[in-house]
Amino acid sequence: MERFLMESMRFYPPGVNSVSRVSVTDVDFGHICIPKGMEIHVPVEYIHHSDDFWERPEEFDPDRFLPGSRAKLHSCSYMAFGAGPRSCIGQRLVNITTKIILAKILYKFTIELADPQEQLKCVVKILTMVPDKVLVKLKPRQVSK
Ligand code: HEM
Repeated sequence: MERFLMESMRFYPPGVNSVSRVSVTDVDFGHICIPKGMEIHVPVEYIHHSDDFWERPEEFDPDRFLPGSRAKLHSCSYMAFGAGPRSCIGQRLVNITTKIILAKILYKFTIELADPQEQLKCVVKILTMVPDKVLVKLKPRQVSK
């Protein structure tokens, strides 16, 4: 489930416009200069779908977060919760609560797409990316008591 959640947030990073920094010094990369005081907005969704950082970026593959594969990733290639000392303090809480909520739903229901052909569309609302609409069918499971 951990891998599935990470891959979901790689594909559709909710905090798509949430990672920004201000440069504290002039930085010269040779081909690009960032002056002191400039605000930098990290293109999280672009990075999450870039083949500079990911093999087959448009393929949904939770196994890319298996411990062995994860260790090979660039430290800033996955930024669903930001990066570095100012990354999201709610990350662990989100991971735990999402797993509990999903486990409770999956215990009672199987989930199917209402229309398997339909592509999930997302829209960006100020700082967060949210699904435009998600139509799924929940089928009750036979839970033995
Ligand atoms: C799916 C849910 C969430 C996502 C995707 C998310 C994502 C993010 C991102 C991308 C940042 C910016 C990190 C950076 O600049 O490096 C951030 C910062 C932050 N998040 Fe979250 N977050 C989530 C839920 C939460 C929750 C539940 C809490 C509180 C319980 C929380 C508290 C914070 C705080 C306080 C910061 C600012 C940290 C700092 O500036 O030092 N977040 N979050």
